[in-house]
Amino acid sequence: MDDVTEGWEDGWRAFHHGVRVGRCWVGPPWEGPPADAIAVVIDPGRAFGTGAHATTRLCLELLQDVEPTSLLDVGCGSGVLSVAAAKLGFAPVTAVDIDDVALETTRANAAANGVSVDVATELRPASLAVMNIALDVVERMLLQLPVERAITSGYLDRDEPRVEGWRRLERQVRNGWAADLLERA
Ligand SMILES: C[S@@+](CC[C@H](N)C(=O)[O-])C[C@H]1O[C@@H](n2cnc3c(N)ncnc32)[C@H](O)[C@@H]1O
Repeated sequence: MDDVTEGWEDGWRAFHHGVRVGRCWVGPPWEGPPADAIAVVIDPGRAFGTGAHATTRLCLELLQDVEPTSLLDVGCGSGVLSVAAAKLGFAPVTAVDIDDVALETTRANAAANGVSVDVATELRPASLAVMNIALDVVERMLLQLPVERAITSGYLDRDEPRVEGWRRLERQVRNGWAADLLERA
């Protein structure tokens, strides 16, 4: 094996840097958080969610705009939003994903951050859901989520979830991506 391919599995680490998102800092275990930030330390492993993607950041910004309540994180990936939410005072926090690697990674990141996140394979009732997936999945999930409000992302600014029985309260945009705060109409 030559130098270019050797160690590619960990090569991405060189590009994983901490980001400030409102009151939070989301970053890897090998970087120190700023003293004044709520530290959300995430090792994503093979799951999605370093915190740097615009859609993750938008969801985390919207989580900081609402009162902490019970939360259902649908498509938790690395668990970045669940861990951040728990640190912001949301409780109980339930994280679900269709990917077993994401569920394991979320468990590990919650433990490493010393927060309580219930990792589950089924949707559980909560006041608020956060869901950073893709427009078609978001629209499908809104029809079945046992929640009153939802923060949704994973789609571009030109798109928006259109589901009967839901209305938009707020929209945030970054780098062409969008996130919405929705409530039942
Ligand atoms: C873009 S990642 C978001 C990760 C993290 N929440 C974030 O914001 O950075 C989307 C996640 O949704 C999961 N996913 C896709 N379809 C799903 C579904 N129908 N139900 C639950 N999770 C799903 C994927 O496995 C993936 O972990």
